[in-house]
Amino acid sequence: DNRPRVFSGIQPTAGSFHLGNYLGAVRQWVALQETHDAFYSVVDLHSITIAKDPAELRANTRLAAAQLLAAGVDPDRATLFVQSHVAEHTQMSWVVECLTGFGEASRMTQFKDKSAKQGNDGTSVGLFTYPALMVADILLYHTNEVPVGEDQRQHLELTRNIAERFNARYGELFPVPEPHILKETGKIYDLQDPTVKMSKSASTPKGIVELLDEPKAVAKKIKSAVTDTDTVIRYAPEEKPGVSNLLTVYSTLTGAGIPELEEKYAGKGYGALKTDLAEVVTEWVTPFRERTQEYLGDPETLDGILAKGAEKARSVAAETLATVYDKVGF
Ligand code: ADP
Ligand code: NA
Repeated sequence: DNRPRVFSGIQPTAGSFHLGNYLGAVRQWVALQETHDAFYSVVDLHSITIAKDPAELRANTRLAAAQLLAAGVDPDRATLFVQSHVAEHTQMSWVVECLTGFGEASRMTQFKDKSAKQGNDGTSVGLFTYPALMVADILLYHTNEVPVGEDQRQHLELTRNIAERFNARYGELFPVPEPHILKETGKIYDLQDPTVKMSKSASTPKGIVELLDEPKAVAKKIKSAVTDTDTVIRYAPEEKPGVSNLLTVYSTLTGAGIPELEEKYAGKGYGALKTDLAEVVTEWVTPFRERTQEYLGDPETLDGILAKGAEKARSVAAETLATVYDKVGF
């Protein structure tokens, strides 16, 4: 397969993915598997930077894989695997850690935010070295493009720097990967505070659409989204972040252009937009929920897909790691 490579990962989390994860990242995964040699991973190693119950982690890893399949990741087109099944990720990570400056890692804003919340003693060393593991994930597959949300831009910049540094120090090996971050959907905003991103850790329950929520609950959240005191339905992210966020979601899920939607709702109120969007989202989550349940109801098939994916990923990763070790002098 000589198509360009894509790699991306998503953490197994309790409950479900949210609309931001889907529109910012997973939707791109599904599109890119048609044109690229795609490697997609449930990154369970990343998730223990914060203490996790073992049984829950195992269940959430399956749940994440089931959701990816339900969203349209096709194991015949893409390699879908669990990060911890491929030992090369941690082996490569050590090499990356030794190429990463302490100051450089200290400047990662995600680390600064999370460690500030958790305090020094509540912050694991793993949370600090997390970006190095992410760099390793990406480089192991000679990745050309990484579909992620806007919040990952800085980690991607680090990845590019490390790829260049490795090549300069040890000889040309890695392509310098490009972030694949969509302008429109790279940052989906919280429904209650449309100035901040929708997020599992920071959003209130009403601000976040979890994809496995009851479709009725999803509709209710859309209908109670915070907008503004104006009445005009217009895409203007700075002045009208709430309405613009709703238009983005609407446009992406239906394929209708933003100008088309502005025209459709000209002279109508926010209520009409929200009612229709609630229906659009409900129609999307209902089959998604059913498909996820189907995969979860057949763990043998699910585990089989992941085992096959791990085998394929391992064969690529092992070859890269052997070359890396050789170049490093092991
Ligand atoms: P992390 O917490 O380490 O960022 P997640 O598993 O939460 O990782 O994120 C999975 C993917 O979803 C990432 O590509 C991330 O950039 C993307 N994402 C998360 N929140 C949003 C959002 N509100 N809008 C768009 N993309 C998002
Ligand atoms: Na995130």
